[in-house]
Amino acid sequence: RCMSTPLIAILAGDGIGPEVTAEARRVLDALGLDLTFEEALVGGAAYRASGHPLPAATLDLARRADAILFGAVGDPACDTLERALRPEQAILGLRKELRTFANLRPARIFEGLEDASTLKPEVARAIDLVIVRELNGDVYFGEKGRRTNAAGLREGHDLMRYDEDEVRRIARVGFETAAKRRGKLCSVDKANVLETSQLWRDVVIEVAADYPTVELTHMYVDNAAMQLVRNPGAFDTIVTGNLFGDILSDQASMCVGSIGMLPSASMDAGGKGLYEPIHGSAPDIAGQGKANPCAAILSAAMMLRHSLGQAAAADRVEAAVAAALRAGVRTPDLGGDASTRAMGDAVLAAL
Ligand code: NAI
Ligand code: MG
Repeated sequence: RCMSTPLIAILAGDGIGPEVTAEARRVLDALGLDLTFEEALVGGAAYRASGHPLPAATLDLARRADAILFGAVGDPACDTLERALRPEQAILGLRKELRTFANLRPARIFEGLEDASTLKPEVARAIDLVIVRELNGDVYFGEKGRRTNAAGLREGHDLMRYDEDEVRRIARVGFETAAKRRGKLCSVDKANVLETSQLWRDVVIEVAADYPTVELTHMYVDNAAMQLVRNPGAFDTIVTGNLFGDILSDQASMCVGSIGMLPSASMDAGGKGLYEPIHGSAPDIAGQGKANPCAAILSAAMMLRHSLGQAAAADRVEAAVAAALRAGVRTPDLGGDASTRAMGDAVLAAL
C-alpha cells in the first residue's frame, strides 16, 4: 500500500456486527476517498474459524492499521466457553493491547426521533452531549480478589485507583473536546466519599489552568445520573472515570431513542482509534436484516473525523444519516419497518 493511503481494519465480529458494518463500509466506499481496507475475524466468528476470539493475525492487523472499524461480538453459542475464549474478551483485549484510554460517546437526538426517546419530546430534543470516559483504569483494572474473612464469610474486593497521569491525560481530552464544542466541561466524580475522586478533582482543577476558555463544573455521579434524565440539554461535555462513564453513557443512550443510534470512539495517545457502535451483537435479531446500521455508519464518520483528518467527509455522512431519518426511513427499533440494507440505501441516496 502507498504510504499515504490510510489502512482501515474492518473487524465486523459476530451477530449483527457483520450486517451493520457492511452498511458502514458501503458508505465509506461511496465517499471516493483514498482508503485501504483489510478484514479480519474477531469474536465468535474467529473462535469458530480458529479456536480463539482474538487471533494473532487480527491483533496484528489492528496494530498495523491507522484506524479500526469494529462491529460487535457476543455470540451466545460461545456462552458456555471459559472466560478467556468468550467473544467479549476480544474487545477487552483490543482496548487493552491498543491502549485506547479515551472513550468518546456523543449522544444527540436526530430530528424526528423525539418520539422514540423515553423522555418527553421537549426534554429529548435538547440532548447534544459527549461523554468522555476513561477506559484503561479505575476499579475495572485495580487489584481484585475473593477470600474467606476472619468471620468465616466470603468476601470480594475490587480496588479503585487512578494515578495523577491517568487523570491528567483523560482530563485533557475532556477539555479539548469541550473547547471544540460549547466550551462547557462537567467533571463527574464522587469526591464527597472517595479518595480516588478527590485526587481526580484536584488534578482536573490543575489541568483547567491550561484551558481558560472552558467553563469547568464538578458534579457528584449520583446527581449527574439524575440531571441526565431531568435536564440533559444542560450538559455539553462530561469527563469521568471508567465505572461512572460506563453507567452514565448507557443511561444517555436511552435518552436519544435507540441503542442502534449511538457511535463511539476509543482513542490512544497518538490519535489512533477503535470505532464501534455502543451496542452488542444483538443475538435476538441477528441474521434477520432488522438491525439499525446508523450507529455503525456514525462510528465510521467518527473515524473519518478523529483518525483520518476527513472532517468534511464526516459531516457529509452525518448529514446523510439525518436526511435519511428525516425522510422517514426507520428500522424497527425506531418504530419503522425498513431493513438494515434499506436504511443503508437511504443513507447512500442522501449522500
Ligand atoms: P445488545 O446491545 O446486543 O442488545 C440489547 C438490545 O438492543 C437487544 O434487544 C437488541 O436487539 C437491541 N439492539 C442492539 N443493537 C441494535 C441495533 N443496531 N438495531 C436494533 N436493535 C439493536 O446487548 P445484549 O443483548 O446485552 O448483549 C448481546 C451480546 O453482545 C452479549 O454477548 C454481550 O456481551 C455482547 N456485547 C458486546 C459489545 C461489544 O461488542 N462491544 C457491547 C455490549 C454487549
Ligand atoms: Mg456498558
